[in-house]
Amino acid sequence: MQAQLDKILEEAKAQLKEAATMAQTDEIRVKLLGKKGKLTEILRGMGKLSPEERKSTGQMANKVRSEIEQLLEEKFEAVKAAAKEAQFRLEKLDVTEPGKETILGVKHPLTITIEEISKVFTNMGFSIAEGPEVETVFNNFDALNAGPNHPSRDMTDTFYITEDILLRTQTSPVQARVLMKEKPPIKIISPGRCFRCDTPDATHSPMFHQVEGLVVDEGVTMADLKGTLDSFAKQLFGSETRTKFRPHHFPFTEPSAEMDVSCFKCGGKGCRVCKGSGWIEILGCGMVHPNVLKVGNLDTEKYTGFAFGMGVERVAMLKYGVDDIRLFYENDMRFINQFK
Ligand code: DAH
Repeated sequence: MQAQLDKILEEAKAQLKEAATMAQTDEIRVKLLGKKGKLTEILRGMGKLSPEERKSTGQMANKVRSEIEQLLEEKFEAVKAAAKEAQFRLEKLDVTEPGKETILGVKHPLTITIEEISKVFTNMGFSIAEGPEVETVFNNFDALNAGPNHPSRDMTDTFYITEDILLRTQTSPVQARVLMKEKPPIKIISPGRCFRCDTPDATHSPMFHQVEGLVVDEGVTMADLKGTLDSFAKQLFGSETRTKFRPHHFPFTEPSAEMDVSCFKCGGKGCRVCKGSGWIEILGCGMVHPNVLKVGNLDTEKYTGFAFGMGVERVAMLKYGVDDIRLFYENDMRFINQFK
C-alpha cells in the first residue's frame, strides 16, 4: 500500500511539474482527489481493511493526500501568478511614448471668404437664400431682363444642358426664385457656384463662386445701396476703406454701378495689387429693374430694391494675395494649409 501511495505521489509531482494552466492543474486534482480519483478510491477501499491496517494505511493515505493538496495549492498559486504576469505584459502601457498626432483638416480659402462675406451681411440683418446650380434659362436670363439677344446667352459663354436648362452663369437667378416665393421686406444674400465656358488661365475658371444680394421693400433707395455696400467694404477690408461707385450696365438693374474699394494694400497710393490706380473693383450693383420686380408680381410703384453680386475668388485673391485662380481648385495641401 505504501508503495502504491508513493507512486501516486511521484506521479502527481511529475504531472504538476508539467502543468502550465489552471485547467491542466485542475484536471490533475480531479484525477487524484475527485469522486473517481485514484487517492479517493484508495481511501474508499479502506472500509474493507481490518481496524489495524485501516489505522496505519489511513495515516499514510492522509499524509499523501495533504501533501498532494499542498502541492496543488502551490501550483494553483503559481499558474495564477503567471497568468496575471502574462496579462500585465500584454496590457503594458508606455506612458513615455509620444502620442500620435491627429491631423485636423482646414477650411478652404474660398469657404473662409464666403463665411466672412456672409457674416458681414447676416450681421446687417440679411438671411441666406439658396438656389440650384442647374437652372432654367428663364431664371438665369429671361426673369433677369436679359433680352433674347443678350450676348451672355451665347453657347460659347454658357453651358447649356438642354434648350431650357443650363448651368447658372451667375447667382442672380436666386433673385428671381426669391421674388417668386417671398413677399417684401426681402433682404437676402446667396453664395454659390457658377459656370461659364471660359478657358482656364490665371484669372478665369469655368467654375467659380459668387455672392448675390437682394433687398426689396417700400422706399429702398440708392442711398441704402451705397450705405450698405460701403459698410460691407469697411467691415471686410478695414475701417479705413473708401468706396467709389462707377456707372455701369447690367440688364437686371437700373441704374447700375460697379463699386471700387480703395486699395487695402497701399491705402490708395498705387501698388502692384491695385495696378497703380489706388482702387480695386469689387462688385456689380444697382437698383432692381422694374421688369425683375414684376417677376414677383410686385407693385413697382410701391416697391423698390437694390441688388449686388461679387466674385468670391476675386475677393479671396485680393485679400490673400493669390495670383492664380487655379490654385483654389488643385487641392494642393501646401497651398490650402496656409489659410489655417
Ligand atoms: N450677375 C452679375 C455678374 O455675374 C453680377 C451682378 C451685378 C449681380 C449687379 C447683381 C447686380 O445682383 O445687381 O457679373
